[in-house]
Amino acid sequence: MPIIYDKTRKVFALNTPETTYGIAILDGIYVAHAYYGKTIPTEDIRCLLKENEVPYTPSQNGREKAAFLDAMWMEYPESGMGDFRESAFCLRTQKGHKASELFYESFEIEQGKPELDGMPSTWGKKEDCTTLKLFCRDALTDVRVCLQYTVFEHVDVIARSVVVENHGKEPVYLEKVFSACLDIEDRDFQVVSLMGAWARERYIQRLPLGYGRQCAASFRGESSHQEHPFMALVTPKTTQDTGEVYAMNFVYSGNFMAQAEKDPFDSVRLVMGIHPGEFCWKLEPEETFTAPETVMVYSDKGFGKMTRTFHKLYREHLIRSPYLNQKRPILINNWEATYFDFDEKKLLEIAKEASELGIEMLVMDDGWFGRRNTDESSLGDWQVNENKLKGGLKNLTEQVNEMGMKFGIWFEPEMVSPDSDLYRAHPDWVLQIPGRETTLSRAQCVLDLSRQEVVDAVYKMVAEILKSASIDYVKWDMNRPLATLGSACLPPDRMGELSHRYVLGVYQLQERLLCDFPDLLLENCSSGGGRFDPGMLYYSPQIWCSDDTDAIERLAVQEGTALLYPLSCIGAHVSACPNHVLGRVTPFETRGHVALAGTFGYELDITKLTREEKEMVKEQVKQYHQYYSLISEGEYYRLASYQENKQYDSWMVVSQDKKEALLFYVQVLASPQRKSICLRLAGLEEKAFYEVNLISGKEEIRSGAALMYAGLRIPRMTGDFRSLLCHICRK
Ligand code: GLA
Repeated sequence: MPIIYDKTRKVFALNTPETTYGIAILDGIYVAHAYYGKTIPTEDIRCLLKENEVPYTPSQNGREKAAFLDAMWMEYPESGMGDFRESAFCLRTQKGHKASELFYESFEIEQGKPELDGMPSTWGKKEDCTTLKLFCRDALTDVRVCLQYTVFEHVDVIARSVVVENHGKEPVYLEKVFSACLDIEDRDFQVVSLMGAWARERYIQRLPLGYGRQCAASFRGESSHQEHPFMALVTPKTTQDTGEVYAMNFVYSGNFMAQAEKDPFDSVRLVMGIHPGEFCWKLEPEETFTAPETVMVYSDKGFGKMTRTFHKLYREHLIRSPYLNQKRPILINNWEATYFDFDEKKLLEIAKEASELGIEMLVMDDGWFGRRNTDESSLGDWQVNENKLKGGLKNLTEQVNEMGMKFGIWFEPEMVSPDSDLYRAHPDWVLQIPGRETTLSRAQCVLDLSRQEVVDAVYKMVAEILKSASIDYVKWDMNRPLATLGSACLPPDRMGELSHRYVLGVYQLQERLLCDFPDLLLENCSSGGGRFDPGMLYYSPQIWCSDDTDAIERLAVQEGTALLYPLSCIGAHVSACPNHVLGRVTPFETRGHVALAGTFGYELDITKLTREEKEMVKEQVKQYHQYYSLISEGEYYRLASYQENKQYDSWMVVSQDKKEALLFYVQVLASPQRKSICLRLAGLEEKAFYEVNLISGKEEIRSGAALMYAGLRIPRMTGDFRSLLCHICRK
């Protein structure tokens, strides 16, 4: 049984295939946390309660209530009553008091999983998952909170969210509504997070957890390049296949906070939710607030198992696009080829050459609308610039279609340039604080998507373009963070709702788009990978991973991204050299191999390639088709990290039936007199024999056991930045 209620012991056991999560009700009112880890019997859960170490519940010893609250492991700790660790919930009353006591009242267990109002979340059929709802109530205010836990039948994941309802007579102010809290005994934990910047997103960071708090957060209005809505606690020697991992990932695209805190009694509290810093939600009587979802994964076999669990969850229970299981067209995007300097002739030249080499879709990037010839103007004026595209969009798409290619287009719907007709007509539609200068970034302002009329107007413009021609794909960009947070429409006591309302506006826009254009392939983007999160994956099956298209820089970015997200989501293209961000020159072949571990496409002026490079494009296109299902459906194994060893990077994908695998290897700097690298492969069948095609044309037969335990010796390659791809097939 996935969810068991043991009435005698007042214990809930949430069982995934290999884990148990234990909750107990103490004193009839406190929702206490007992256990999370490998599967254990329900009978054991009650004995694991901190109660045995903190032997005074308030009913037994009221004078030490604060000591109890400050030490007990809680499922959803509230502010203001005596738990001085980070709380998960903070409510302010009309009188200004910040305290609440969410006492347990009842529970429900139901098949399936409720949707979260207006927000992305994992989903599952009735037979795939079971949900526990714990209903709690603050007697003074009559605010009721439902803690929701969904257990998936075939994936080791627990998905959590929280619904708050005001049944009282007065409004209350929610100053913090986190989505998950996990209290756990310290095991000398280290904290793993993903940190970065523009062009180097999601670098893996691992630090020891000391006493006090370690936090990852975003206040930028998006999940951000800099920090990521993910945090894991790992035991000290955790590797790809050994050690314990407790991970949380937030299904949300705005401000967040993830924090690990070690208290003086060596308990650790991991919390995740909307960042309370820019948040305060006024909840009127009868109103409901739903907090976004956090997914929790426990692995007893290192990072690899955690990664594969997240990949399975996102592939089977998050991404909804029909393109999830459909081969994506190989695209060519004109951004790095032309920037703003293009017309229909140039695009058609690119399309013609590309179609002859087997590329299947032309994506027209920024610069096709208004008077946009630089990034100084026209965002918001989503009308085709017919001086640039003579004959209009329909004419262009028809010509592209005649070449047998699909057509895609770039938008940045959330933004407006001060130099635009839209801004001139509606200056109050941007985020701004009266009396203060509106902070520009990339010369643009952010539209106030907390206003329904703005959402409607933006949607109308985008939809009109999409209806006007045959458009198969949209790249939805977002090129600046949110600042000068003010809305002309929100009253002062609701201004703290703005950032979250903005995110809800984005979700509404994308939901409408997908409802009205169900066959559209949507790719999200935010100055590269500034909004690469599970929230956006719910709408788009792929996200542009980074503006840094240099194959070597991409190794770390794609390693960190693939720690959580399937390769089929990771937007990756072959671009020109010297690389536009770094000026580095890498072999065309290596650029192809690195892009193949993502959605695969091109971002260069294909008309300028040499004959030899064009032949390589044909070869890469062939490889893409040959390995598509293996890469998009296979299991991912990280074999070596250039970030750690400073020499080489390697990963592989193995088909679900273990009959086929693809090994990727990138040698970064060549170095003399080094021993050759012996790579231990992973994920194969020990007893099976495999044909290993390491150097084209030279096949060797090896057992799965030998490949995994003895390893595969990689031939030396002369030159820097060399790579190889090795197809492994069961005999
Ligand atoms: C962002 C994107 C790029 C490109 C430009 C266009 O930076 O990440 O890929 O679309 O915007 O302005």
